[in-house]
Amino acid sequence: MPLRKLPGLLRHPLRALVEAGNEANGEIVRLGVGSVGPYLVTSPEHLETVLHNPESYVREGLLWNGVRRAVGEAILVTEGPVWRSSRDVLRPLFTSARVNAMTDRMAEAIQDAVDALEEPARDGTVVDAGAELARIVCQATTRVLFGDKISVADAVRMVDAFGVIATEMIPRIVAPWAPQWLPLPGDRAFADAVATIDDIVLPVIRAARRNPDGGDDIISALCAPRRVDGEEVTEKQIRDDVAAMVSTSTETTIAVLSWLWPVLAAHREVADQLYAEIDQVVAGAPVRRAHLPELRYTRMVLDELLRLWPAGWFIPRMAVGDQVLGGTRIGAGSTILVSPYVTQRMAAYWSRPDDFDPGRFDPAGPKPEPHYSYFPFGGGPHRCLGQYLFAVEAPLVIATLLNRFRPELVGPVDFTPRMGASLRPATEAKLVLRRVRQAAS
Ligand code: HEM
Repeated sequence: MPLRKLPGLLRHPLRALVEAGNEANGEIVRLGVGSVGPYLVTSPEHLETVLHNPESYVREGLLWNGVRRAVGEAILVTEGPVWRSSRDVLRPLFTSARVNAMTDRMAEAIQDAVDALEEPARDGTVVDAGAELARIVCQATTRVLFGDKISVADAVRMVDAFGVIATEMIPRIVAPWAPQWLPLPGDRAFADAVATIDDIVLPVIRAARRNPDGGDDIISALCAPRRVDGEEVTEKQIRDDVAAMVSTSTETTIAVLSWLWPVLAAHREVADQLYAEIDQVVAGAPVRRAHLPELRYTRMVLDELLRLWPAGWFIPRMAVGDQVLGGTRIGAGSTILVSPYVTQRMAAYWSRPDDFDPGRFDPAGPKPEPHYSYFPFGGGPHRCLGQYLFAVEAPLVIATLLNRFRPELVGPVDFTPRMGASLRPATEAKLVLRRVRQAAS
């Protein structure tokens, strides 16, 4: 097994990891960083073993310690009975039948949110694409997933708070040896962000538990009485799950869509094909569920965005007990770096891996092989619950926006990612929206 020193890791972590993956060409490589020495696992075969065996490879260490400081007992970070209970409560809310049933309500919420862009478009005012996407996605999400129990403004405040958490946890990931009592840069901002989330979420949970309405939204479902591992579910567990669900249902979608603006500016041919499809399929009408099957190229663009900038770019695991993976002995407690970002950019699995080419996902063409060369939604028992929801919500957002406006990027195209728990462009795009049509009703 190769051992690799990574001089560029701190300066350009993502680039350095992809280079290490390419050099090892699918073999497991031990990275010489600090005392942790994690193993970079990139081959689809090894990834399948790791992701499908959560008893041997758990969500501990690195990223998870940071996430746990914000949402300690949530579905996103737990294992065992606590995780199972949350997953059992939440899974029925995300089946394709449920998502299909709520699609038109979600489309209306998106349309209402996009209406607010008419004014800046008319005046030629520059808009902050990240803030506008956050508003649109929060409006869609609070209405259909959270039954309007959290306001759009509070959901946006939570997105901002999670943005702080996602970046301010990085010093502790980079310096995992630092004890909790040692203050690190970012700790204060992290604590303030957690307090903001509590201020929003706790009153909502208390109200929902006092007055259960039997609703089919995430909050009602999580607040319904249930026993976890023989004990009544605690307020802390509910709080962690609600906070994690607000964060994951918004931040991931916003992060992926944030890359669309530089892509459209840099790839005229992609933009033209996307506009042509939306013009032809939607043709100025309000976007609805019936349009989705026809938005084939839109889906291909989304699949390619998820290949190059998977929001869940980093899903590490820790070995429980000594393990042998692909012939390599991995000691108990070792960290295993699993990264859709790295594998999805490796030359061993993708031709011209750095090129943005939606044609790779043409449904008429071959499917990407092997299976775990493309896994933006993870895999195994912890596979993303929101995959189908994203597949509906993201085309609705894109089609609703581009049905009415042509975005023009203000300033240079920059594809530099900003490191955090999710992956967004370092420079949030500023746009001028050129109106192509009036709002349809
Ligand atoms: C582009 C959008 C999204 C991406 C790229 C994404 C990615 C991921 C990934 C990689 C995992 C696996 C984590 C692991 O293996 O440790 C995951 C888990 C999860 N995702 Fe997503 N996600 C997205 C959207 C969503 C949405 C919209 C929701 C909810 C509405 C959601 C809810 C969850 C939940 C609850 C889990 C934890 C599942 C478990 O551990 O049982 N995700 N997601």
